[in-house]
Amino acid sequence: MFEIRERDGLARIGVLETAHGRVATPTLAPVVNPNRPIVPPGDLATRFGAQILITNAYILGKSPGRDAIVRLGIHQFLGFPGAVMTDSGAFQSHVYGDVDVTNAEVMAFQKAIHADFGTMLDVFSEPGHDHNRAAKDVDETLRRAQEAVSLRGEMALVGAVQGGLHADLRERCARSVSSLDVAVCAIGGVVPLLEAYRFRDLVRVIIASKKGLDPAKPVHLFGAGHPLVFPLAALLGCDLFDSASYAKYARDGRMLFPDGTRRASDVRESGCLCPVCMAHPMEKIAAEEILLAEHNLHACFGAIREVRQAIVEGDLWGLAERRARAHPALLDAVRELRRHNEFLEEFEPVSRHGALHYVGPETAHRPILHRFRRRLAERYSAPPAKGLLVFPEGGRPFSERIAHVVDQALQVADVHIAVKSVWGPVPLELDHVWPMCQTIVPEALDLEALEAAEVFFREWAAGAGFSFGLLWEGETTLDELRTRAPGARTVDWSALRIRATADFQFGRGAADALLTGTVSYVISKNTGKIRNVHVNGEHVLSLRAEDGWFTLKAAGARRLSNAFPAPQLRIVVEDDAVPFHREGKNVFAKFVRDADPEIRPGDEALVVSPDDELCAVAQATMNRREMLAFKRGVAAHVREGVPPAPSAPRR
Ligand code: GUN
Ligand code: ZN
Repeated sequence: MFEIRERDGLARIGVLETAHGRVATPTLAPVVNPNRPIVPPGDLATRFGAQILITNAYILGKSPGRDAIVRLGIHQFLGFPGAVMTDSGAFQSHVYGDVDVTNAEVMAFQKAIHADFGTMLDVFSEPGHDHNRAAKDVDETLRRAQEAVSLRGEMALVGAVQGGLHADLRERCARSVSSLDVAVCAIGGVVPLLEAYRFRDLVRVIIASKKGLDPAKPVHLFGAGHPLVFPLAALLGCDLFDSASYAKYARDGRMLFPDGTRRASDVRESGCLCPVCMAHPMEKIAAEEILLAEHNLHACFGAIREVRQAIVEGDLWGLAERRARAHPALLDAVRELRRHNEFLEEFEPVSRHGALHYVGPETAHRPILHRFRRRLAERYSAPPAKGLLVFPEGGRPFSERIAHVVDQALQVADVHIAVKSVWGPVPLELDHVWPMCQTIVPEALDLEALEAAEVFFREWAAGAGFSFGLLWEGETTLDELRTRAPGARTVDWSALRIRATADFQFGRGAADALLTGTVSYVISKNTGKIRNVHVNGEHVLSLRAEDGWFTLKAAGARRLSNAFPAPQLRIVVEDDAVPFHREGKNVFAKFVRDADPEIRPGDEALVVSPDDELCAVAQATMNRREMLAFKRGVAAHVREGVPPAPSAPRR
């Protein structure tokens, strides 16, 4: 069983239950080479905190000690108390061209030695395989996956995803494999990509596979053991890594670091605080394979802990972007991500704690900012005005920084106001929405970021309905405004803010649905900002100070459910669950029948019965894809139950 505790991007902090204890993910399963176990497996558990390791059933099955291994079982044979995953020999077929074992034989052996997770014998799809050949790899892999399911008995099965570099095949293979009775889905065939630092291809392969994979199942990335790739691979939804890198590099006299690899003989001071580096002089470490292997393991597990902490902090995007500076090939990979924003955006929460920090020009292309710009085009309608007055990037919140000049401008000209921010255009009434308000950017921006900001702005402004745009250049701009858009404009900024946020959050038309009637506000005594929105005396919305989004109240939910047809904004639950939600109980994924594909983690949603009767307002923790896949866990936290509607419609 796999349970998810926290998430960031497609990454998750999860717990995988096994017969040999719990495995906290993301994690690394160190490879134990049965012929050459450099670090004793027992030590992997006690000194390095390994909860799972991987070893090779194909090699064990060929060894002279085969009978003893069967007699003892793999755990006792290795002296490892945690979970043991075994691999099947598919990798050996990549190295040697073929293996003299069948899927059925290797399955039987893995069962006989009591592996916690046994791997089917997949067909290793080389990156160079053309579509035709890779399709055959996939077909045979799927056939063997089905066979392995029928043979697995009590053993949890690892199903492999192949398909080379062909996105359609990866997705198809992933969908078919994860629909089978497998416990772990493993993305295979990527070692040649890792060895050649083809990280951009790796990104494409992982994303194509993730599109087909069941989000409720843990995902293993076969052969990924360099700390350099952990942040990116975890960000894309890989939960388990395995690798012999720590041992292979040690044999070769090399040290792993979170930002790359160094020849030990070139290292005068490692800068590492691991027990090995603290206890021994560098010359001794460089001379002893075991010490190098141990340092490498510490480096790998340290990098894993760093990834987990970044997930908890909601900063895995930041970590992946910062780490991309460690190698140009990794930078290419991070730059590839923007091409997959439509998919990645589905998993982005509506907001995170704290501020969004600028890392580099890539930051502007994160899915959360892609979403902001897309919603601006699709959901935002600018108020009528003759022109647009544009302010440059600068101190935030924008509305406070430029309040004084905005007043001056509106006294002489009929213009609307926007900021040309590094993330794209921000109409002034949306400047409080996360992350526009909570952003830290350098004062001096690099050219690539400025050019992108220019393009984002132009794309929006072209369709925004203003006859001209003018950049604020100081007091002289007032004169120009007087001639180009004579007149004055009285703006109720609170009203504008509420309307724009409503459409932006729930979709075009939401402001009309939510705010028709007599609108009044409760203003916070502390901040002077709007806190609650009442319409005709009913509390409809609350504006959250932390992220600038609305919390939906029952009266607001009723209005939205009348104005927006199903499935928009909805989570449809099973009939049986309805009474519980009316009482305020949370929505479990298991009871979700369907949901609006536009719902994102953190979104406000309407919980409805199969007949579309509103029964609660909730905050989603998952997107639709996840709600339908998970059999465990909360899909949405109910904020308020809604009683059945009286037979006569209420005003
Ligand atoms: N180890 C590294 N790559 C692979 C792969 O594609 N399949 C299996 N089974 N093991 C691997
Ligand atoms: Zn060290």
